[in-house]
Amino acid sequence: MEKQENRRVQRLVLVLFPLQGHTTPMLQLGSVLYSRGFAITIAHTRFNPPDPINHPQFDFLVSGTPNIEDVESINLNCQAPLQELELQKQTAYSQVAGVIHDSLMYFAATVANDNKIPSLVLRTSSAAFVQAYAALPHLLAEGSFLFQDSMSYEQVPQLNPLRFKDLPVSRENMALTLELIDIVSKYKRSSVMIINTTDCLEHLPLLQLQQLFQVPLFGIGPLSKVASASSTSFLEEESSCIAWLNNQTLKSVLYVSKGSLAMSDEKELTEIAWGLANSDQPFLWVVRPGSVSSSDWTELLPQGFREHVGERGLIVKWAPQKEVLAHFAVGGFWTHCGWNSVMESLSEGVPMISCPQFFDQKVNSRYITYIWKVGIELDGELERGDIERSIRKLMGGREGVEIRQRAIELKQMIDVSILEGGSTYNALNDLTEFLLTNKI
Ligand code: UDX
Repeated sequence: MEKQENRRVQRLVLVLFPLQGHTTPMLQLGSVLYSRGFAITIAHTRFNPPDPINHPQFDFLVSGTPNIEDVESINLNCQAPLQELELQKQTAYSQVAGVIHDSLMYFAATVANDNKIPSLVLRTSSAAFVQAYAALPHLLAEGSFLFQDSMSYEQVPQLNPLRFKDLPVSRENMALTLELIDIVSKYKRSSVMIINTTDCLEHLPLLQLQQLFQVPLFGIGPLSKVASASSTSFLEEESSCIAWLNNQTLKSVLYVSKGSLAMSDEKELTEIAWGLANSDQPFLWVVRPGSVSSSDWTELLPQGFREHVGERGLIVKWAPQKEVLAHFAVGGFWTHCGWNSVMESLSEGVPMISCPQFFDQKVNSRYITYIWKVGIELDGELERGDIERSIRKLMGGREGVEIRQRAIELKQMIDVSILEGGSTYNALNDLTEFLLTNKI
């Protein structure tokens, strides 16, 4: 039987980049736009595919190899199938009204332009990060960003409040940075920018981005808050941790996760373990399989740790994070500052210990601690004493009370932004209108 949604007149093709932090917001955007009457085709790679069972309302188009490749190869390998299979085909019931692509899937803008279809880029990071990235070529050309500056606390000209140390670049990742700068110039071909943020969090960066890119820009986040709740995880979520949380007291638990990419070595694992153990605070700790070098999972935990902690701590491979952050027992989030995690935490009013590692995470951390003041930073090499002190400060100290209060106020502002008349609500209406009429 023909799928009901094939009768929808306007179809959107959404092009995913196969990493968790990129796939999740794109699928969430798909759900939002489906609820507004569009038929949705999800174009994805064989590597890290979304599970169609969780998204019965979508159609799927697969291309590329089953292995992780570099960004350029992924773009090359996905181009032909999208061109041939989807865009030129206009079924009796639906025509392609737009292609929405991840910023790293820049090939889709070319295919859309060739087919005279509007292309829209979804930025899955913060507006401040997009702005910082866009500024890098100038900083490099002017010579104002020297390698040694990557540790400097000095303010970056025109990028207030960022310091050189917050920029997504360092001597080690310079080659990758240059490649990504090139990619930024490619997605400028898209006629519209959609960004997973909201005005109450990033009023100024959004305004400045608008001026910089001179294209229609829609701040429609937090997508985790406006989209329906179907799972987008590549790994199986251990829902049993919710039963454990149910037995903990109000706002007593520290949730600890480093997202889907960050790695640790044995030394860092040991410091984290003893920092958590010595804090005397209940904790739910996600240790992703394969995320600790030279081990499969938790084999390298220090001797005596589990006995010391007993029932006070639970370690899981992957958590239902949104549900965890919304749980009454969770009072803090020790995070690597991936943008999805930050938005999910802000949406639930959960204060953070920010522990950034790479890419956009240092920019996000600066906003958490300095602009929104909803977290404390755990900087530099991890050490058990610093960890214990940070946890005690956030979960028990006077400073922690003030930080928690601000986190609650920010959550309330986010709630308002998605209600009728709020900035996200209006931006979603404007985006829908644009897709239906190709006019602002
Ligand atoms: C990566 C980069 O690290 C990040 O900086 C960038 O903004 C996006 O790409 P990732 O490391 O995966 O993302 O972090 P994040 O953006 O926080 O995304 C992780 C997602 O996985 C979140 O939506 C989170 O809810 C989910 N998650 C994480 C789980 O569902 N369960 C877990 O146990 C851990």
